Amino acid sequence: AAVKKYQFDIQVRNVSRLCHAKPIVTVNGMFPGPTVYVREGDRVLINVTNYAQYNMSIHWHGLKQYRNGWADGPAYITQCPIKTGNSYVYDFNVTGQRGTLWWHAHIFWLRATVYGAIVVMPKQGTPFPFPQPDREVNILLGEWWNNDVEEVVKQGNKLGLPPNMSDAHTINGKPGPLFPCSEKHTFAMEVEQGKTYLLRIINAALNDELFFAIAGHNMTVVEVDAVYTKPFTTQAILIAPGQTTNVLVQATQVPSRYFMAARPFMDVPLSIDNKTAAAILQYKGIPNTVLPILPQLPAPNDTAFALSYNGKLRSLNSPRFPANVPLKVDRHLFYTIGLGMNPCPTCLNGTRLTASLNNITFVMPQTGLLQAHYFNIKGVFTTDFPDRPPTSFNYTGAPLTANLGTTLATRLSRIAFNSTVELVLQDTNLLTVESHPFHLHGYNFFVVGTGVGNFDPSKDPAKFNLVDPPERNTVGVPTGGWTAIRFRADNPGVWFMHCHLELHTSWGLKTAFVVENGKGADQSILPPPKDLPPC
Ligand code: C2O
Repeated sequence: AAVKKYQFDIQVRNVSRLCHAKPIVTVNGMFPGPTVYVREGDRVLINVTNYAQYNMSIHWHGLKQYRNGWADGPAYITQCPIKTGNSYVYDFNVTGQRGTLWWHAHIFWLRATVYGAIVVMPKQGTPFPFPQPDREVNILLGEWWNNDVEEVVKQGNKLGLPPNMSDAHTINGKPGPLFPCSEKHTFAMEVEQGKTYLLRIINAALNDELFFAIAGHNMTVVEVDAVYTKPFTTQAILIAPGQTTNVLVQATQVPSRYFMAARPFMDVPLSIDNKTAAAILQYKGIPNTVLPILPQLPAPNDTAFALSYNGKLRSLNSPRFPANVPLKVDRHLFYTIGLGMNPCPTCLNGTRLTASLNNITFVMPQTGLLQAHYFNIKGVFTTDFPDRPPTSFNYTGAPLTANLGTTLATRLSRIAFNSTVELVLQDTNLLTVESHPFHLHGYNFFVVGTGVGNFDPSKDPAKFNLVDPPERNTVGVPTGGWTAIRFRADNPGVWFMHCHLELHTSWGLKTAFVVENGKGADQSILPPPKDLPPC
């Protein structure tokens, strides 16, 4: 194991896309930011120095940070922000994980431009459990706004409504030639006939689940969220914000130029967003004048594709990489996901849209929750988050548009160390049904079951996959459906859980778990680092 050091300078830089130039927040002036390359077992020290006039905080999405929430990054959950002119060293070990993950700003909507890939190579001498690729390429999917994103959000808050949609989707920060003025902002990847490529695909978009496909080429999915899967071949993948997917692609087609493209999956007619980001897969020796071929992407509302694609995901579950699914459950949780409407005296209509879990809209504290927990600071949060919603109703029946008020609170759930938890996330028709990608910090979980309609505790658990369910850190709860996850609470700390649609997170679709310390000497939260940013 080695010590890997990185210096991240948070700096503002002018970038132009779609004929619009604007200052954006970057790491080291790069957009997307630098890739963090580490090896399983390494210790990583990333010194983040903030030269921008924004508060900053960075999350290493999917790294478990065992006993070390201090390095996790979500602002006001595990640390206070790094203020202008200050630095903080994220100091962590990468243990028991390998694969593709990513990092992003975890404060306001700054992750719109502050994000990059994390590649964790397997231990030296340990091959991948699939054919060795000739080359690896990172594919980061994102969104671009012509206007300042924080201003866009402020505008939305004033109205109490969603802010404007992004103006483009991007592949490695570039929209591609289907957007105006974007010929020169097109990512291209050169391939050689007969070679195999590993694409490390990351969805860094703020608010869109995306389909991704390559014209003329199938993809073999081999890993999701840095966990190996049973390989399967597909024409398109579906990837939610926060998720990562590794695929193998073989350059065995007629040498030419092919588009790879990403477009949203959206099965509710709330907002129609069918902008297509495109990049080019170019065979060596083919001139740039050859017109590329576009791939077939599933239709934006292709729910059947989404369900079938997600249904194909299975953990590899090999002797070397077993799926240790908790078979017995100590704690059953059932959380409803809903939208709501709360009074807002400063908003134009006097109301604002909110979102809630078990009818509770999370209120961000002023102090880091992990500090409050560790130092026993009273009055910052309570641990009475309910295990079930206050009332049961027909969750996915006709839209419920009355009594949309939610409880505003910083309520957390307390979980005993090493207990096994099953959490059923149930989408509801409070205002509207919608798909929600849920992310849990500090853990991977097993997605043991999913379904459309209302979860039925008397029938559905019998159908759970307890053998080789996918293991991930972010899972899409289907529109008007439910997802059941299981994990063992063996990582003490305060761990954020939220919808990875930034819009919904900012409306309060989030909570956190307080996982207690164990009795063993090495089962408690590590002491905080000396340079932890103060509030
Ligand atoms: Cu990738 Cu809490 O986020």
